[in-house]
Amino acid sequence: MAANHSSEELLTIGEMSGRTGVAASALRYYEELGLIASVRTGGNQRRFPRHMLRRVSLISVAKNLGIPLTDVQDAFADVPLERTPSHEDWQRASRAWKRQLEERRRRIERLEYELTGCIGCGCLSMKACTLLNPDDALAETGAGPRRLEFEGEAREA
Ligand code: FES
Repeated sequence: MAANHSSEELLTIGEMSGRTGVAASALRYYEELGLIASVRTGGNQRRFPRHMLRRVSLISVAKNLGIPLTDVQDAFADVPLERTPSHEDWQRASRAWKRQLEERRRRIERLEYELTGCIGCGCLSMKACTLLNPDDALAETGAGPRRLEFEGEAREA
């Protein structure tokens, strides 16, 4: 990828790390997830097109806000990796991200509302507590101690 980038536009992983404050190991992980991309030199070393700085900066902001990388992947889905994204590319991503953030904010507000009630209550009832068992959703998975059974299965896996 990025065959149209001249060598002076390419940054080493150390330069990327230095410019963004993100550890080289994290940059390699982001690349593995497809959030950023690099080209390889003849010696198989990574070189990052300069426009990856913006992606890494946005990933850092998202991470600081507690936004999962899967949400960032969704937001970046239509932003091209192989060329410098256009203003329209980023605008499209921005609109998608805004929708995600609004949904996230609604979930957090709901959780905040329920948590406030639960702090005062403290019963942690498996049937009634909306934090432990929202809308009694566990009842749909069958009778008995669903959470304990599920956690047991998860440990065995
Ligand atoms: S702690 Fe009682 S309803 Fe959640």
